[in-house]
Amino acid sequence: MNVKGSIALVTGANRGLGARLVDHLLDAGASKVYATARDPRSVAPTVSADPRVSVLALDVTDQSSVDAAAKAAADVTVLVNNAGVLGFGSALEGDLDLFQRDALTNYVGLLRVSRAFVPVLTANAPGAIVNVLTLIALAPVAGMTGYCASKAAAHSVTQSLRAELRDRDIEVVGAYPGGIDTDMLAGVDADKAAPEVVAERIVAGVAAGQTVIWPDDASTGAGSVYLGDPLGLERMLAG
Ligand SMILES: NC(=O)c1ccc[n+]([C@@H]2O[C@H](COP(=O)([O-])OP(=O)(O)OC[C@H]3O[C@@H](n4cnc5c(N)ncnc54)[C@H](OP(=O)(O)O)[C@@H]3O)[C@@H](O)[C@H]2O)c1
Repeated sequence: MNVKGSIALVTGANRGLGARLVDHLLDAGASKVYATARDPRSVAPTVSADPRVSVLALDVTDQSSVDAAAKAAADVTVLVNNAGVLGFGSALEGDLDLFQRDALTNYVGLLRVSRAFVPVLTANAPGAIVNVLTLIALAPVAGMTGYCASKAAAHSVTQSLRAELRDRDIEVVGAYPGGIDTDMLAGVDADKAAPEVVAERIVAGVAAGQTVIWPDDASTGAGSVYLGDPLGLERMLAG
């Protein structure tokens, strides 16, 4: 997908990886980027002041908000489903309300936004849907069961969309980062990649036509384990 000259929309663009994806899409030559957030006032003034950036309200769990965004951003060619939440908890003891929140945001929300934008992307084809998933969509880690399950569902939906959109000139890309140094993992003692690096590699992967992107060193290594030995990755991540 040619990022140069594209018109992109990023969900959850007010902070973390989403904010850096906006920067790197612009650096890669996107002619316009919709920086969307639940609260549009939370998008950094330095970003919203850029004439190539349009700030829009978008809550991925709210159908009317998603529909309004799809109407307002009818020129989009690259949809980046980045918004996400993480509730901690194990399979046996985790709070099911948190599991449900993760599912409604990370899986159903991603699908809700994708469905709303498929007519837009079809009208403006060629286009792309870029889903920010995670390495632990492919094999879970302890203590994040609801999150891993929601991302595994989002991974499966990514594959379904890829098959269903095959004939519409819309690429469907999955990015599978390892840990990233953002609010989401604040307080978790683990190796984390800088969000700038992850965002740059995701945008570069999209521009290079990659369908699956491993956007940091940890996910590149673990991804090659997964591709050769899925159960090996499961054992590795289970500790
Ligand atoms: N951090 C990691 O280690 C890591 C690793 C792999 C993949 N990821 C994925 O990377 C993506 C970005 O995460 P991050 O690390 O940047 O986390 P973050 O710093 O916690 O940011 C999460 C973003 O998602 C937005 N969001 C949450 N619920 C939303 C909703 N209902 N509608 C719209 N936006 C919503 C947040 O907006 P508010 O400010 O309104 O809450 C925020 O902009 C997520 O999909 C995450 O699962 C993260």
